[in-house]
Amino acid sequence: MRDYKPRAIVHFAAESHVDRSILGPDDFIRTNVGGTFALLEEVRAYCADLNETGCTDFRFLHVSTDEVYGSLGPADPAFSETTAYAPNSPYSASKAASDHLVRAYHHTYQLPTLTTNCSNNYGPYQFPEKLIPLMILNARAAKTLPIYGDGKNVRDWVFVEDHCDAVRTVLARGRVGETYNIGGWNEKANLEIVETVCSLLDELCPNDPFIPHRKLISFVKDRPGHDRRYAIDARKIERELQWRPRETFESGIRKTVSWYLENEEWIKEVTSGSYRQWMEKQYATRGHDASRA
Ligand code: DAU
Repeated sequence: MRDYKPRAIVHFAAESHVDRSILGPDDFIRTNVGGTFALLEEVRAYCADLNETGCTDFRFLHVSTDEVYGSLGPADPAFSETTAYAPNSPYSASKAASDHLVRAYHHTYQLPTLTTNCSNNYGPYQFPEKLIPLMILNARAAKTLPIYGDGKNVRDWVFVEDHCDAVRTVLARGRVGETYNIGGWNEKANLEIVETVCSLLDELCPNDPFIPHRKLISFVKDRPGHDRRYAIDARKIERELQWRPRETFESGIRKTVSWYLENEEWIKEVTSGSYRQWMEKQYATRGHDASRA
């Protein structure tokens, strides 16, 4: 910090996969809670070294998740910035803890912090442990498409470049000490997401070994404590900072599927070794629920 004198830290670093947090929570506490604490302490020391104006211009932007708010019923209003925290997984609890630390460092030490809570991202370069890239890769390889439970869990989906744009906007114009929810205004059930991916693959890869791809869908044992529905009320960032997502789900998901079809080298690189071990550990005992087929 002293050598480079950054004007901001944008803190994306996190263990982010809920299923991994269920099988091994330790890394989540260490990285998400301990890591955020370590960064905040560095910023506190850095700010103490700067004169008052220097620190006023500095920003610590903490990138978080909508999962800290817990799970919604079908008719509940979407999460707003004032919704009470109710995290349900070791992952979301670790993110909630880090959000609280950021809040406390602003109130106690006046660090110039900003926090963003975003919904599910999708797009290029997403590691294929997450729903959309996992389904694309499995479908192309004629492997089953494991849908947890009844496939009716709902998420709000935002294209990754829209999320990046929102983060830049908050960094540039967000009010210090505030939190901003970021979302895509795009709630969808998991089954609908997977069916859309399958239709696109039918169209773009008609020579794949298994057509139609949707026949690979398999309902498997549910994720423990699986949150039923997330929805984001992103009116604050729109009202205060004039940000709205640009991508529709239709255009974003087409770009995403095409990107995975065109980037086989990257896929090869990230799916070697430890990825295979993870897939085995995570899916071997989930079975197939014939009653839902
Ligand atoms: O809501 C924001 C969060 O979105 C981020 O904070 C997390 O870092 C990110 O991982 C994501 O969490 P989810 O648990 O919603 O994402 P995931 O892609 O793991 O799962 C999306 C939905 O799909 C969820 O309801 C579980 C379901 N699912 C997931 C996988 C990997 C399946 O049905 N089958 C699967 O194999």
